[in-house]
Amino acid sequence: MDRFVIEGAKRLKGSVPVNGSKNAALPVLIATLLTDEPCVIENVPRLRDIRTTLRLLETLGKRVSMERHRVSIEGGRRLLTRAPYDLVKEMRASVLVAGPLLARFRKVRVPQPGGCAIGLRPVDIHVRAFQAMGASCENEGGDLVITARRLQPCRLRLRFPSVGATENVMMAAAAIRGTTVISNAAREPEIEDLADFLCELGAGVTGAGTSEVRVEGRDRLHGASHRVIPDRIEAGTFLIACAAAGGDVTLRGVEPAHLGAVLAALKKAGVSVTRTDGGLRVVSRGRPRPVSIRTEPHPGFPTDLQAPWMAFMCVARGASRICEDIFERRFMHAAELARLGAWVAFEGNRVTVRGVPALQGASIMASDIRAGAGLVVAGLAASGKTEVQRVYHIDRGYERIERKLRRLGARIRRLG
Ligand code: EPZ
Repeated sequence: MDRFVIEGAKRLKGSVPVNGSKNAALPVLIATLLTDEPCVIENVPRLRDIRTTLRLLETLGKRVSMERHRVSIEGGRRLLTRAPYDLVKEMRASVLVAGPLLARFRKVRVPQPGGCAIGLRPVDIHVRAFQAMGASCENEGGDLVITARRLQPCRLRLRFPSVGATENVMMAAAAIRGTTVISNAAREPEIEDLADFLCELGAGVTGAGTSEVRVEGRDRLHGASHRVIPDRIEAGTFLIACAAAGGDVTLRGVEPAHLGAVLAALKKAGVSVTRTDGGLRVVSRGRPRPVSIRTEPHPGFPTDLQAPWMAFMCVARGASRICEDIFERRFMHAAELARLGAWVAFEGNRVTVRGVPALQGASIMASDIRAGAGLVVAGLAASGKTEVQRVYHIDRGYERIERKLRRLGARIRRLG
């Protein structure tokens, strides 16, 4: 199992490009199940979760090839409608195959994803939405079996703006004739990217990025090419890493409009972030001011950057509070940060962090993608040697993070 060895407390300097977004690429790749015609998706990051998605598409009957950051997908007349458990348990986003397969074949069987390191993560909102469209959903031996004699466009309201449920319904609605209106929809930029792709396939989608999305479905969708949006979470991780370690870093190809809450928090912390031509420049020196955050659906502070932010606040000049309102147990990194000398106290879904002058290197362990990224941020800020174990979690969401950090002068090595 790979681990990172970081010699921290070194300022970062230089410029790195931002990859395509994992969480935008996943639904876009899965949406190719909606058509028999070839699709080409550009700017796809080379990550474990992407490889799992491509394997899933192949298992279902697509022909897939990936060259650098470009994925070509063909075939589809005779797709299977059953997703295998070994892929779904590796990656919860596999549940997104339900929408397109249900719309095209009127039945689909997907294993229930089960809980994971950050929370219970049920799929009831997806299920309710499919039921509103006329489907019936049963649990058979741990699998969710969804069938519909006729899938109907309708008006439906999600009880919470779930990203995955919004995407699943949008994909199902795109392949049935008529208008589906989703209210209390998720407003994340990844929803807008999926909407753009569905339009490129021939559906009509309006309102993506607002809480009411209208999908004008078609009987038949055609092939398309699409370029995935930049990864706001990767970009945010690098901004916070530079803020925590100190330095002067420019991120290229980032979309600042997707990072509003993060940029505002960095500014409050005393970090300078300015727009450059096609990028963002972050300059940070000294310890930050403490800034409390609460994670919220977009455009609020993203839960996926909560762990990096907590790591950053560990060296602030005072106490801050971190409230996690999206997932119920996304604090596994807090105890690891304490091993580096951080002062953290839990109370339900809140953590109080009292900044210390410096963190000290130690051996720590990643428990999920973003917790792992938070530990890397802490290791870059800490003096001495930090070993981050279970790097495979980080590899699910960051393409060779250590290479990019080395380009910025960080002393970080991957050891097998
Ligand atoms: C997406 O997960 C992202 N994953 C997550 O990124 C991200 O943390 C999350 O959105 C929130 O922004 C992908 O895009 C592949 P949700 P998703 O449905 O769609 C509850 C990462 O590190 N809920 O908006 O699963 C759920 O339990 C990952 O890249 C229900 O109760 O998120 C959670 O508490 C991790 N019932 C909350 O809603 C449901 O049916 C938000 O979940 C669905 C969700």
